Amino acid sequence: MDIREQYKKDVGTYAANMVESGTVIGLGTGSTATYFVAALAERLRAGTLRNVIGVPTSEKTAAQARAEGVPLTDLHTHPQLAAAFDGADEINPQLTLIKGLGGALLREKIVAASAAKFFVFGDSAKMVKTLGVVTPVPVEIVDFARSLCERRLTALGAKVVLRLRDGNPQITDEGHVILDAFFDGISDPRALDQAIKDIPGVVETGLFIGLTTAALVAGPDGVTVQNA
Ligand code: A5P
Repeated sequence: MDIREQYKKDVGTYAANMVESGTVIGLGTGSTATYFVAALAERLRAGTLRNVIGVPTSEKTAAQARAEGVPLTDLHTHPQLAAAFDGADEINPQLTLIKGLGGALLREKIVAASAAKFFVFGDSAKMVKTLGVVTPVPVEIVDFARSLCERRLTALGAKVVLRLRDGNPQITDEGHVILDAFFDGISDPRALDQAIKDIPGVVETGLFIGLTTAALVAGPDGVTVQNA
């Protein structure tokens, strides 16, 4: 296992050890979240954790949780979550995030907003001073509005790329498509988020603002916790 993979495993396991018995929690999506769900399932099997139910942020996470025996529910049955745990693509010093390179940003944001506490995990390479220098902002849109959204995002200064999978537009779990908007650095994430949401046809952006309770960051010195 290479070092970045080891960091993902370390921080996923660390997060799983934070989960308390008798809680309903959000289960994130992505390669780090995969380690989290695996470690959570292991704790449930070992009996060090009891009566935990998860709300998955994607069909992929739901499939893993089912396969590993983690009980699942939904936000209709359990609208308020004790905590949610998820990865990120970039984390800035204010713990504002870019998420959604895995395509699950819409359900991820809904689950994070439904949780009393939202813990984001990643390795130290995810920490950036300025969001969006390297990573695009994923923007989930209804396909009918694609050309309008492309034009308006371009007018906001972005280079816009339709997200493809196997040569076709990637369809999200909620039946939408994703535009990746490259901004070459984002000076005001809140203003940009609002400007993007003002475009008709935009469903959600991958900017997660004011949601994070703490960031769990894995690096050479182990896992550090940065509170918002
Ligand atoms: C999924 O839509 C994303 O938001 C992921 O949570 C994010 O891309 C982090 O994924 P990795 O843990 O695979 O880097």
